[in-house]
Amino acid sequence: MTKIIQLKDRQHLAQGNSRLVFRHPENSDYLIKVMRPDKIDERFGSGAKWYKRLRRLGKYLSYHREIEEFLAVHTATDQAPPFLQTIIGFTETDLGLGLIILGAFQENGDLAPSLGHLLKKHRYDKKMEAALEACFSEILASPVIISDLNVGNFVYLEEHQHFIMIDGLGNANPLGFKAFSKRLNRRAKLRRFARFRERIERYKKHYQHPT
Ligand SMILES: Nc1ncnc2c1ncn2[C@@H]1O[C@H](COP(=O)(O)OP(=O)(O)O)[C@@H](O)[C@H]1O
Ligand SMILES: [Mg+2]
Repeated sequence: MTKIIQLKDRQHLAQGNSRLVFRHPENSDYLIKVMRPDKIDERFGSGAKWYKRLRRLGKYLSYHREIEEFLAVHTATDQAPPFLQTIIGFTETDLGLGLIILGAFQENGDLAPSLGHLLKKHRYDKKMEAALEACFSEILASPVIISDLNVGNFVYLEEHQHFIMIDGLGNANPLGFKAFSKRLNRRAKLRRFARFRERIERYKKHYQHPT
């Protein structure tokens, strides 16, 4: 029988709008992501729209998208691209199915900071901006489809001066054109990058970055 990893009584390291992120109790290089128990009902259960309730994948749809993108980039290059987090696999936990991924950590062992954190703490500088642009170029050169560019979905590895996109991948519309046309996918990505740059500028104003 597979072992069920106990996470409920542990403290998570981070959380997003839909998931909790724990350190893997048996391998400190790994993280386990599970769906946030407080959001499942409202999003996928009795609180959700009828068509969402009918979808076969329901609350695990986001895993499916993420894995599809992981496979798509490997199909293209047969190696893990530097801008993507490495997916290790699945595990059962007392909080439902967990996605095991390689964690991005700082040298002191803490999680690598998100772009949002860097902006908030006035740490986002020219060097990081160049690193983010390099990350955009890597995304553009890859067949990956992106759905959600937000400042919580990029984490920064100071050591390598490198951003990793840890979430927000995949096609929100499974019948969408992006999966079938490289050109249209590229155009859609360029549009999203442009909007995202504007969003970052708004954050800088909001956090009163010196100009
Ligand atoms: N591989 C990773 N390495 C380091 N931190 C991560 C990693 N994946 C997620 N995180 C942290 O956890 C937060 C939430 O993860 P995320 O996958 O974005 O969850 P959600 O699906 O809820 O948005 C991120 O904003 C980031 O700070
Ligand atoms: Mg996220």
